[in-house]
Amino acid sequence: MTQATLLRQIIDYSSRADPYPLYAELRKTPVLQEGDDLFVVSTYWEIKSLLHDPRISSDARNLSPSAAGTLLQEEEASALPPAFLRLDPPEHDRLRRMTMRPFGPPETPRRVHNMRGELARIVSGLIDGFGDRNRIDVVDDFSYPFPVTVICRLLGVPREDEALFHSWADTIAAGLDPDPGQDPGERRRVTQQARTELGKYLSGLIDERSGAPGDDMLSALVTQHGEDGQMTRMELLSTASLLLIAGHETTVNLITNGMLTLLRNPDVLERLRGDPGLALPIVEELLRFEPPVQLLPQRTTLADIDINGVTIPKGASVWLVLASGNRDPQRFPDPDRFDPDRKDNQHLGFGSGIHNCFGAPLARLEAQLALTELARRLNSPRLVEDPPPYRQNAVLRGPRHLNITFDGFHA
Ligand code: HEM
Repeated sequence: MTQATLLRQIIDYSSRADPYPLYAELRKTPVLQEGDDLFVVSTYWEIKSLLHDPRISSDARNLSPSAAGTLLQEEEASALPPAFLRLDPPEHDRLRRMTMRPFGPPETPRRVHNMRGELARIVSGLIDGFGDRNRIDVVDDFSYPFPVTVICRLLGVPREDEALFHSWADTIAAGLDPDPGQDPGERRRVTQQARTELGKYLSGLIDERSGAPGDDMLSALVTQHGEDGQMTRMELLSTASLLLIAGHETTVNLITNGMLTLLRNPDVLERLRGDPGLALPIVEELLRFEPPVQLLPQRTTLADIDINGVTIPKGASVWLVLASGNRDPQRFPDPDRFDPDRKDNQHLGFGSGIHNCFGAPLARLEAQLALTELARRLNSPRLVEDPPPYRQNAVLRGPRHLNITFDGFHA
């Protein structure tokens, strides 16, 4: 097998259920050149060092035309300026700082912690909603609706509008998940319309909150006049949309991958049922073992970079395969074993460096609560099929459905 075909194989849908043996092949060449200007990096220390290297840019405007053509269609269609995920310092740092101020330490250390009770109520409500069924789809019935409801509460979307918000979020997410059965032109049109409506809706909400701020995060962003100044309307819109989208498909996949992995490891599921504290290391190990973001395909080099005997030239595209770094035996002993008792688990599931996941504390809490409650309440849950059907997407990888059966509920 040539290495060029190896990368194509990884992206091919037939590898989606288990790409890990292919990543092991990939790691034999830690920095692999593919074509003229694409370099694929698959080992832990090399990925980590590039994530901390200021000579690597996340700014979409630096992408080579060939890479931009395939990756940017969705963002371009949204007609919003890039949010800070796709910016470099100093613009990135200013917007991230401003967004962090009402979200986490040092200014707002308790925002996520204070959501705990509400998150637990949402989880219980969704499980109660299973009614007297003994078969559910974990994705559609649970792990998909949960993060959208959470982001609505965080941003301060009124409850009565949550259904609208859910439907836009669903449509936008579906647009990122190509469905071979749907006409691509039609899908783009529908996605674009959802983005426009979401933008209009958020714009109205921004007007409302600037007149009558509440204690939600959008109000705080709208009214902020700190040392970094104020966000422009476009910055507010792109930041709010980023929070919605970045925290959506990823969290769905973490919870779904979590349930799948627990059902494949019933001893760990049983331990979690008896010891909810185990949810913390379980979620960390899941972020290593089955990371929802498998690879970061949008970096560009701003200078020649020498790494592992290879020179990545200035202007090249770099793919950082986080999921492969997480299974690198040079970093993690027995990496293909799911082991919640693993020590020193500095996985790459949330990235690393200046773009490391902004929403990590919230995502962790959501996944911990979700898995603990599913483990506690469902009696003898079992997989209907293994492997389950996966989404098309090789980057944001996760099951499209996860059908399970169970024998009623524990009290
Ligand atoms: C399990 C769930 C999640 C996973 C696996 C995940 C993963 C990641 C990763 C790998 C990055 C780094 C991207 C890069 O370096 O290019 C990132 C960035 C980001 N994430 Fe998450 N994420 C999750 C949930 C969330 C949530 C819930 C939010 C919002 C509340 C969020 C907001 C963001 C933002 C805003 C960035 C950009 C940070 C920056 O550029 O400085 N994420 N995430």
